[in-house]
Amino acid sequence: MSTTKLIGALDEGTSSARFILFKSGTAEIVASHQQELPQIRPQEGWVEQDPMEILQVVRICIDETVKKLQAAGGSVGDIVAIGVTNQRESTIVWDKTTGLPLYNSLVWLDMRTASTVDRLLEVIPNGTKNKDYLKPLCGLPLSPYFSALKLKWLHDNVPSIKKAMRDGTCLFGTVDSWIIWNLTGGIHVTDVTNASRTMLMNLDTLDWDAVLLNFFSLPSSILPTIKSCSEVYGYIVNSPLEGIPIAGCLGDQQAALVGQQCLNCGEAKSTYGTGCFLLYNTGGKRVNSTHGLLTTVAYQMGPNAPVTYALEGSVAVAGAALSWLKDNMSILSDLNDAEEIAKGADSMNGADLYFVPAFSGLYAPYWHKEARGTIVGITEDTHSSHLVKATLEAVCFQTRDILEAMNKDYGTSIKTLRVDGGMTSNSYLMQLQADLTGLRVLKPAMAESTALGAAMAAGAAVGQWNLKEHTDMPIQEWKPAIGDDERDIKYSRWKMAVDRAMGWDV
Ligand code: G3P
Repeated sequence: MSTTKLIGALDEGTSSARFILFKSGTAEIVASHQQELPQIRPQEGWVEQDPMEILQVVRICIDETVKKLQAAGGSVGDIVAIGVTNQRESTIVWDKTTGLPLYNSLVWLDMRTASTVDRLLEVIPNGTKNKDYLKPLCGLPLSPYFSALKLKWLHDNVPSIKKAMRDGTCLFGTVDSWIIWNLTGGIHVTDVTNASRTMLMNLDTLDWDAVLLNFFSLPSSILPTIKSCSEVYGYIVNSPLEGIPIAGCLGDQQAALVGQQCLNCGEAKSTYGTGCFLLYNTGGKRVNSTHGLLTTVAYQMGPNAPVTYALEGSVAVAGAALSWLKDNMSILSDLNDAEEIAKGADSMNGADLYFVPAFSGLYAPYWHKEARGTIVGITEDTHSSHLVKATLEAVCFQTRDILEAMNKDYGTSIKTLRVDGGMTSNSYLMQLQADLTGLRVLKPAMAESTALGAAMAAGAAVGQWNLKEHTDMPIQEWKPAIGDDERDIKYSRWKMAVDRAMGWDV
């Protein structure tokens, strides 16, 4: 396998996009560029992004990375394939002739469809209002989180989209489809992992499901073709990458699972970004959760390859809570200060403070869309540093919530947790995570696991990455430093705080 070949990974996340070039078969980064992506918040609970701005940011990342490659003496001719990975569930509808979006992207965090969920719960047979009614088909509960709800809202509330759906003049896609359609000049595809987050794909057939489409009253004509995660979907046009195949595609959390090399049943990773997402590889077995987890496709590495499933615990607010401390509360001037400030709280008197950052309800394992952010345990000695520490602890307690649910669903006995994502640069948080879960926490030295996963899928499709060979990376480790009793007392108090957050039904 030639080491001069390069594989590109385009990682379009909720807060930023990046394009990274890896030496094929390795975690070695040759060039990269990252660019922030703004969110639009027209009303409380509404979160949008401009699809054209997403494309612009993607193009800037590609252009800048290529310039850096060339400045270092490299050549675009060495790039043999590109993988795409993306924020999942976010929903875009565009005109299939002009290519122009018909509305902003409804971002996965957007809560405007809470009342759509309520209306749909009313029509569940036998009056059960069972939010898990569709889980046997798609593995997901009815929640504003998933694309079908957002698509239904667009159909019901935007007349031009309703008409375009009726006339067959528009297309729907999650962010992967939008990017691939634009970069290839009109190839309308998605992959099994992104499709598994729409609530419209059947987890067994891996195809769009007529019952689900009927439930949401959505036409099949707008849907992309579902492909595996690792095959050539098309070739790039109108870009410095002209002619290079896009050959890998996964939702960002599934890509991180692959990039962390959790390719065996029983391996798990947790990614700490805007939210926090813990995926547990269950192999070829589809495990149906009865404790609030999602069943999702982990990956399918080629059109004829077997599919691998995962159990997922999705936490809506992780890094977003630190951003809230900075942007709304002015408690942090820089997110990187959180580590030192939280350490400072340890040396002060003061409260055992619990902060449940349920800004957009609670996702797994509670799925309580009416829950709201709650701070419990304030005393006269409480200082802002305690709130910073409580924010970091909230991330760790939510991870334990997920692990407890996984244990109940699957009897997992995870001893180690592989971690990645922006927040893992906070070593204090990683120690807290080890302490509050009792697990060894392992972090690869190359932190871009999501991009690496997309590169691996693309590289494998063009014969430039052997997924059976372990990609070597040094690992950093944190071990639990507190005992079970202390850990369990803290966790039981967290559960009390969660009860209060869920009691705030207005
Ligand atoms: O399901 C949402 C998830 O894919 C978003 O990930 O990294 O953009 O917070 P991230």
